[in-house]
Amino acid sequence: MKILAIETSCDETAVALLDTIGPVENPSVTVLGNSLFSQAHLHEEYGGVYPNLAKREHLKNLPILLEKTLGNFDTKDVDMIAVTQGPGLEPALWTGITFAENLGKMWNKPVIPVDHMKGHIYSILFEAGENKLDFPALALLVSGGHTEIVLINSIGSYEILGRTLDDAVGEAFDKVARMLGLPYPGGPKISGLAEEARDRSLEPGYKFPRPMINSKDLNFSFSGLKTAVLYKIKDLDLENENTKAQVALAFEDAAIDCLIIKTRQALDKIGGVKTLIIAGGVASNKELRRRAHDLALEFSEIKLLMPTKELSTDNAIMIGIAAYVEPTKQTEGVMSRIEASGNLSIS
Ligand code: KG4
Ligand code: ZN
Repeated sequence: MKILAIETSCDETAVALLDTIGPVENPSVTVLGNSLFSQAHLHEEYGGVYPNLAKREHLKNLPILLEKTLGNFDTKDVDMIAVTQGPGLEPALWTGITFAENLGKMWNKPVIPVDHMKGHIYSILFEAGENKLDFPALALLVSGGHTEIVLINSIGSYEILGRTLDDAVGEAFDKVARMLGLPYPGGPKISGLAEEARDRSLEPGYKFPRPMINSKDLNFSFSGLKTAVLYKIKDLDLENENTKAQVALAFEDAAIDCLIIKTRQALDKIGGVKTLIIAGGVASNKELRRRAHDLALEFSEIKLLMPTKELSTDNAIMIGIAAYVEPTKQTEGVMSRIEASGNLSIS
């Protein structure tokens, strides 16, 4: 099945053309075209994503990326168009949806709305090979807008077991980065500093709290950790590169600890989980990946699946895969029927 996928939920404009075949738990996915434009540098001066600027950039870039992605491909051969419906920034989501629906009308193809978080989940099926998805599966979804533990009993059956009560973990990385004077998006920069500190065997020097690890539920909270960093750095000389790296290391250790501890609690609570998925932008974090491997070793029956670094952060390939795995209602014809849903929750 040839799928044209479009992603515009935040500050990445992405278009991909996939050829997918085979069972949905383990499809074979060939990328026929893939273009992505990150607007991150444009949002840098705002310290976060500025929705109207994102919208303007998506509008400008979508036709360019479409042309690049399609190349000489005959659009008659497209079987479906997949587009992110939410969650995300509504002005940004609408640009992708309107664009997809116009293409659907022009080419007379069905348009499939996709939950961005399911995109993150099913990103692990790209080049899964023998790593087919076995159920029950547990997904730790970690991005700039979400921190969730989702139980997947089968494709189409989801239960959110826990979520953040305030900031998402990626957001906490971005905010702490800003405190340290690092540009947006700060997650990769904090992680880079922390890795450097580890390579140089620098001690963290500080110990930050691990909020909620003893709560009886599977929820997270990162705002207290962020505030603890804010108070600590008031007394520190951040001009000193070692100090900065130590703060990054101590923060990363605390944040990743929270993720791993809660995931372990979820695995213990559910029992019998066959696949552990860790996905979303923060899944490209090296320390999280190492710790996830160690965690998986504690459970002999668990297979750990994580997307590649490129597929961890927002992209259109994952949206196409999710549409193949779980095609939701199709829209055909003249009327626009997909509604952007900024707060869409996995169901
Ligand atoms: O999934 P994503 O691309 O967009 C959303 O759906 O939000 O995730 C972006 C988030 C940002 O907060 C970014 O700082 C964070 O993922 N991130 C990282 C790393 N790479 C990206 N956080 C920690 N370590 C990283 N290496
Ligand atoms: Zn995302």
